[in-house]
Amino acid sequence: MQAIVFTELGGPQVLHLAEVPAPEPGPGQVRVRVEAAAVNGWDVKVRAAQVPGMSPPRFPSVPGLEVAGVVDALGPDANGAAVGDRVVGFADTGGYAELALTSVFATVPPGLAPTDAVTLPVAAEAATRVLRELDVRRDETLLVHGASGSVGELAVQLAVRAGARVIGTASRARQDRVTALGASATTYGPGLVDRVRELAPGGVDAVLDASGAGVLPDSVTLRGGTDRIVTIADPAASGLGIPFSSTARRDAGELARVVRALARHELTTTVGHLLPLAEAARAHELVGGGHPGGKVVLVP
Ligand SMILES: NC(=O)c1ccc[n+]([C@@H]2O[C@H](COP(=O)([O-])OP(=O)(O)OC[C@H]3O[C@@H](n4cnc5c(N)ncnc54)[C@H](OP(=O)(O)O)[C@@H]3O)[C@@H](O)[C@H]2O)c1
Repeated sequence: MQAIVFTELGGPQVLHLAEVPAPEPGPGQVRVRVEAAAVNGWDVKVRAAQVPGMSPPRFPSVPGLEVAGVVDALGPDANGAAVGDRVVGFADTGGYAELALTSVFATVPPGLAPTDAVTLPVAAEAATRVLRELDVRRDETLLVHGASGSVGELAVQLAVRAGARVIGTASRARQDRVTALGASATTYGPGLVDRVRELAPGGVDAVLDASGAGVLPDSVTLRGGTDRIVTIADPAASGLGIPFSSTARRDAGELARVVRALARHELTTTVGHLLPLAEAARAHELVGGGHPGGKVVLVP
């Protein structure tokens, strides 16, 4: 099969199309003929050796954490899907490929495009996890940095649905998107603390940093300390005494719930760019640039 591989760490140009053996499903796994593979910040950071303390992957390495597509083979004891079903899931083998394995997946309901379904596994897991860690409750005020991003837009919607007031930061161009999600939008950058105080004169109860853009000091100022601040992207967190949330809890039931909500239009996500598999390097440039305008999705 064809897949995007890299055999050394470096810039986006290390990614290239290659012929590699098809993965064979093991116990509990299904093999998916990939229709959509999402590109995540993690893929970019691994390729560029930007994950502190992480040893390089085994080469040749196929990136990609999430896929949607049609099941073409079942491993022993694989439940929850039959050959021919369309599913979306966390990829056990690299997702930037014609075929990939998954063991935590959900059915894609008819009418939901695989390119939309694939925006969910990583972003919805992270958003759900961090809201749980922050224990955001009804009538509380949550500040989301990076509210126009893939994780941020889901965190905003899930917190609004839970009855919280949400303030979301984004670029000027994406203010309307954040407002449409049910949040009060403001821009990031100088003067942020004053703008947030104007929107929330009673203060903010919790802060989610889904940007990794150096917003933790302002967050501490707004909270009056480090309590109830979590980042998923800023390695400066430990020096500031702020938790960096990174341990994914991959749960098929939780994934199925958000997939159904997306299919029923109770949640929305944004696909910023759809690119052919061969343009993985371009996809990494977009995600690595920090303003992809939504999920970047590769289509084999
Ligand atoms: N730890 C974990 O478990 C975990 C899980 C998933 C993702 N992540 C990480 O979390 C981060 C977000 O992921 P994502 O998929 O949501 O990425 P994304 O879609 O690229 O979103 C990043 C957002 O950051 C915003 N941004 C850029 N500069 C900013 C600034 N100076 N201040 C505030 N916001 C700024 C961008 O807004 P504009 O486009 O409007 O400028 C963009 O919406 C990535 O670093 C990713 O690797 C971590």
